[in-house]
Amino acid sequence: MNISVIGSGYVGLVSGACFAELGNHVICVDNDKQKISGLKKGVIPIYEPGLQELIVSNLKNNRLKFTSNIKEAVKNSEVIFIAVGTPTLENGEADLTGIEDVARSIAQHIDGYRLIVEKSTVPVETCSWIKKTIATYIKKKQKFDVVSNPEFLREGSAIHDFNHPDRIVLGLETLRAKQIMTNLYQPLNRPILVTNIKSAELIKHASNAFLATKISFINAISRICDQVGADVREVAAGMGMDNRIGRYFLHAGLGYGGSCFPKDLDAFITIGEKLGYDFQILKAVRNTNQEQKAFVLKKIKDVLWIIQGKTIAVLGLSFKPNTDDLRNAPSIDLINALIQEGAKVRVYDPKAMEKAKKILKNVTFCKDKYQAASGADCLIIATEWNEFKELDFIKMKKKLKRALVIDGRNIYDPKLLTKMGFTYIGVGRGNE
Ligand code: UGA
Repeated sequence: MNISVIGSGYVGLVSGACFAELGNHVICVDNDKQKISGLKKGVIPIYEPGLQELIVSNLKNNRLKFTSNIKEAVKNSEVIFIAVGTPTLENGEADLTGIEDVARSIAQHIDGYRLIVEKSTVPVETCSWIKKTIATYIKKKQKFDVVSNPEFLREGSAIHDFNHPDRIVLGLETLRAKQIMTNLYQPLNRPILVTNIKSAELIKHASNAFLATKISFINAISRICDQVGADVREVAAGMGMDNRIGRYFLHAGLGYGGSCFPKDLDAFITIGEKLGYDFQILKAVRNTNQEQKAFVLKKIKDVLWIIQGKTIAVLGLSFKPNTDDLRNAPSIDLINALIQEGAKVRVYDPKAMEKAKKILKNVTFCKDKYQAASGADCLIIATEWNEFKELDFIKMKKKLKRALVIDGRNIYDPKLLTKMGFTYIGVGRGNE
């Protein structure tokens, strides 16, 4: 099929590259000309495992093209995906100006039937607005359909997630749209759920909100665990063995970050407000997530007493492993709070150092984890990269001034570290 994907951010780039790999001809569009000129040469603006290779190979076999010219994309594609950003406005609402803009541009250039597929995470009823906007600005009376096809991929495992989704959700209204979309996804051979458009839009927000709720729930349990001397990992394991609960998204830690959960919760709460519903449960989820960072900071203060003048090593900056994305990363808030208190902070991350240099001031960027730990009074794990799971603690102990580990992601065995002479403090591991 001839497809275009408008918006070359995380979702747009990954979807575009994966659709090309499935044998389609894909045009990826972005209004950032610099980004497009880099992408044409195979320069990828984000770190995502496997993406660079996929883009380069599909560029070579001419199945993937990059352009800033939306007209070219609309003229040459039967299916047009919208994957532009929907950032949060000051009032918590999603900013839909990018979507409206794209809808108007599509309307101007349509010269035959087109299927417009909304892939960005958007408030319920956005597709109705897209439809109305295109109908208003369209020049000739051309037929078109609008589909809601939310994307559920995670950063760090995006290509795998795109190719092996638990479900493909298609919110649509016509048989023609259904046939095109099912043909497009047929090679993936995954379950397809066809719903009405508004349900599909809600499935995405409800899913992200539910996952964030699971995380805040287990983080709340971690607080109780610390008070009574229980281990949240054991509690989560026991809960997760109940199939109704499931074992995923029950890792307590520094809280959730990233570009999706915080933004989507704000947007969902605001949607509720607009509809006259006070989404209290999600407000509590959001507060618990904020509190979790403060709680870990308090733990650090409780053990170090005075932060002023102390040297603190932080391993991991990205909001989760296998990405260089620092948006809403809990590490950043924690580091800024420590600096505010007068600490000298030494940091290391396997992939996010370049991006971190642009936003973190007054920290020492180190070339590896051991250099970061050198002379530090405390070692904090802020992101659970695999390379931190395999630390040489004998070497680490020699590097640190004080053998103190704050395990913000609960990746170590408290007994083992204690036996090695470390003071170990996790999140909900029973050592408040
Ligand atoms: C999330 C969803 O998982 C995807 O399904 C969705 O497509 C995406 O948002 C989106 O809306 O675009 P993502 O933000 O990439 O994906 O990453 P997650 O793996 O969901 O992690 C989000 C945050 O939750 C991270 O900060 C992670 O450290 C934290 N987390 C996750 C926990 O603290 N505990 C857990 O048990 C799981």
